[in-house]
Amino acid sequence: MGSTGSGVSGAQAAPTIPRHIAIVMDGNGRWARQQGLPRTEGHREGARRVKEVARTCIELGVQYLTIYAFSKENWKRPRTEVSAIMKLTEYFYRREFGELRDEGVYFVHLGDRMGLPKSVIRVLDNIEKNNSDEKRLILNIAFNYSGRSEIVRAARVLADMAGRGELKPEEITEELFSRHLFTADMPDPDLFIRTAGELRVSNYLLWQIAYTEIWVTDILWPDFTGAVLRDAVRDYQNRERRFGGAPPEGNVSPSGSSIG
Ligand code: IPE
Ligand code: IPE
Ligand code: MG
Repeated sequence: MGSTGSGVSGAQAAPTIPRHIAIVMDGNGRWARQQGLPRTEGHREGARRVKEVARTCIELGVQYLTIYAFSKENWKRPRTEVSAIMKLTEYFYRREFGELRDEGVYFVHLGDRMGLPKSVIRVLDNIEKNNSDEKRLILNIAFNYSGRSEIVRAARVLADMAGRGELKPEEITEELFSRHLFTADMPDPDLFIRTAGELRVSNYLLWQIAYTEIWVTDILWPDFTGAVLRDAVRDYQNRERRFGGAPPEGNVSPSGSSIG
């Protein structure tokens, strides 16, 4: 579980289907600009792509999908854009939740509730109460999320326990630490997808992506489809995951090949 869930000591071929896919849904603003529309229209169109991607995950047999919808740093954006994202999120949950829940999608919020508008918190509470019990796909929505603050939050909980004498510092292991993250008891992502081409992590799942395979596409999030997701998975299937181990005897790894 957590980082130790993938703590494999040697090299191995990537399993056929990633158990957990994490996506940075980026490029809504650029998509809108290309269409001559306001940025908020890009966010609206982007929200529409989530359903197809979730359904494709179910078809493929992916068990966990984690999508980055709003970072803590995104509060720096103009107030009108932030408030449009809040409204769209509320609307997304109201419109899509029932349908996806009935298809076996179990929703989880990753991030802090504090700071979110009351109306969004109400929707999150409602989802918790009425969530699917089938769990064909766990859909984690990172919203008001920051990887660093998630780590600090876990550290505070453990420090508090140690301060009260409930835990010895040497009992703090990677596994215990993982269990105090929002992703407690979930496997680490196998595949990290970023749309819109930026080659950075942007404070996403910092702890969990220690050995995740990265796939970046120039496709903007509102243009993302189930077929693109399948391309990413196919690429993942050709990776050799090493977790720090040596490649199998006689194997020339993709990263060792000529860049010609
Ligand atoms: C991603 O799209 C959505 C959020 C960060 C909320 P952007 O809004 O970052 O789009 P670009 O990067 O400006 O194109
Ligand atoms: C990352 O995208 C956050 C989300 C997709 C929600 P950003 O657009 O905020 O990232 P930066 O600012 O380009 O790093
Ligand atoms: Mg962006």
